[in-house]
Amino acid sequence: MALIDWNDTYSVDVTEIDQQHKKLVSIINELNTAMKERKAAETMGKTIDELIDYTVTHFIVEEKYFDKFNYPETVSHKKEHDDFINKIKDVKKSFDKGSLMLSIDIMNFLKDWLINHIQGTDKKYSSFFNEKGLK
Ligand code: FEO
Repeated sequence: MALIDWNDTYSVDVTEIDQQHKKLVSIINELNTAMKERKAAETMGKTIDELIDYTVTHFIVEEKYFDKFNYPETVSHKKEHDDFINKIKDVKKSFDKGSLMLSIDIMNFLKDWLINHIQGTDKKYSSFFNEKGLK
């Protein structure tokens, strides 16, 4: 069973961004499977790197639209992004040092952060972006 099952309540009504969120869900699910199947540390490390890289890519896209449309909640939204990137980079550093193992708690943190961020923070831009013609 996947850790996160995508459903339409996660949609932010912008196709490009929904596609990116689905990819983030898929990477987190892949990491969860790797953890459950006790894959080699190298395999899990690569998936964590993939999660970091794609999260950065996704945030750049969202923030590009914030700047383009002068989104009023840019500062607080970007801060959430920066905090999350710092957190997952810390996780990776500790994982590489061997001082942290992937655990259900960490997987739940990733899952909860993503879902809460999409549903609580990202969704706030839906109607704003839609009115600017971004759908
Ligand atoms: Fe979809 Fe604000 O991250």
